[in-house]
This record gives sequence, structure tokens and C-alpha cells, in this order.
Amino acid sequence: MPPEAAEALARTRAARGAMGATVTWYAATSSTNDRASEAAAAGAPHGAVYVADAQSAGRGRQGRVWQSPAGAGLYCSVVLEVPARAVPLVTLMAGVAAADGIRETTGFTVQLKWPNDLWADGRKLGGILAEVAQTGGAGSRIVVGIGINVTAAALPPDVAALATSLEGELGRTVDRGVLLAELLVALERRVTGLVAGDEAGILTTWRELAAPLMGRRVEWDAGDAVRDGRAAGLADDGALIVETSTGEVRLRAGEVRWR
Ligand code: BTN
Repeated sequence: MPPEAAEALARTRAARGAMGATVTWYAATSSTNDRASEAAAAGAPHGAVYVADAQSAGRGRQGRVWQSPAGAGLYCSVVLEVPARAVPLVTLMAGVAAADGIRETTGFTVQLKWPNDLWADGRKLGGILAEVAQTGGAGSRIVVGIGINVTAAALPPDVAALATSLEGELGRTVDRGVLLAELLVALERRVTGLVAGDEAGILTTWRELAAPLMGRRVEWDAGDAVRDGRAAGLADDGALIVETSTGEVRLRAGEVRWR
């Protein structure tokens, strides 16, 4: 682990609670979600964290590749244990926690784009990939993977055109270790709130951070037809509310394309 990260994690030890009580840091691995899923299956506790400098098979939602060049981003995964009723809001909660952590570290306010994108200046800054590791029993074990572009890395041209980074937005350097530590502090606060039943706190902040993107046109596949409408808001169960020419639609699992 880089010394700055060790220092930041030590400084935030009390505020992080269970988050990052153990942090496993890889120079390179396939995907930190793979490492966290294996660990969760082997009994790793709530809050165990897996971080990598580089991922050779980083993945995003819908089977997409998550470009993970060495040292260019924060690539981390956290094992969470939450009650079943909290599962539908875990991705949104993690987005809010990532936004909190970024603001605490840099003063920068990101936007949230349903369901899992961190967004800045019309481009993607990061994303969340939540995967269920185990259900049943007292709670569900979820692996929450968080990827944040930190430096303006040499990305393939098609990705570079759609992506931005914290350093690119701020014009100064950002330490990944400090970002990780503050993200874990925020995650502890938000997970504890969610587990205690404070869905409203998550939904309210998510709605504030997503407000600039509301009103935008979205489209999605519905059987063999493509439908479209305007993003209108977030329902209490985490669904995206879309206004269409024939009325309101609530999107859950489906992937929307923002236009
Ligand atoms: C998305 O926007 O589609 C989600 C991207 C999630 C990327 C992170 S990086 C750390 C963790 N490991 C992975 O392979 N993916 C997530």
C-alpha cells in the first residue's frame, strides 16, 4: 500500500467504523470485485476492502470493460452485509457515498446519473458495480465495486471522449489513498443510515446530485421496440421515473441510454 494511503487510513480509523477494518491492496489483479467475491464466500466480514493499482479485467455493468490503467484510478471493492430490504438501494447508496467522499477530499461536487454513474461536465467520472455475493440468512452479502477516474490516463480514444477524471476537472493532483479513506468514512455513515432504515437520507441526497440531469431524454429497449421519454425523478424504491408521451413509466432493472 502506498504510504499516503496507509497514513490516510490510520488518520480515519475511528470514523471508518467497520469499513476497511481490513484493506487488501494489490499491485495488479483481474478485478477487485473478483477478490471481494471470493473473500465474501470465504466469510470475509462486513466492511472488508480490496483495492488494486491496476486491474487486468476490470468490469462495469452490462458486461462492459472498465479500463483500469495502473495508478490512474481508484479501483476498490467492499464487502457489505445488509438486510434484504436495503438491497435495492445499495447501488444508489454507494453512489451517494462516493460523491460524499469526493467532495470531502477535493471540494468537488459530482453529479449522479441513474443508476450507477458518477458524472462531471457531461462525461463519466466513475461508476458502481454492485454484485450479490450471497442471500438468505440474516442479511445479504453484497460486493460493491467503485471505480473513480483520478488521473487523465491514456485511455482508448472511444473511452477517452466520454470520460473525465478528478484531476482533469480540478487541474491539480488528487491522492488516491486520501480519496479511498474519505470514501470509506462516507460509506460507513451511509451504510449505517441505510441499515438503520434511513432510506430518505440516501434518496434526498441522490435526488439533489441527480437534479442537473433530470429532464434529459432517455431511451430503452422494450421487447423489440425502442421507447423514449424524459427522466423525471427517482421513486422511493430506487426506480427511475420517466415521462413519456403516453404517461409515466418506472424503470427498474432495464438499462437506459441517456441522450
Ligand atoms: C460501471 O460504471 O459500469 C461500473 C464500473 C465499476 C468499476 C469498478 S473498479 C473496481 C471494481 N472492480 C471491477 O472490476 N469493477 C469495479
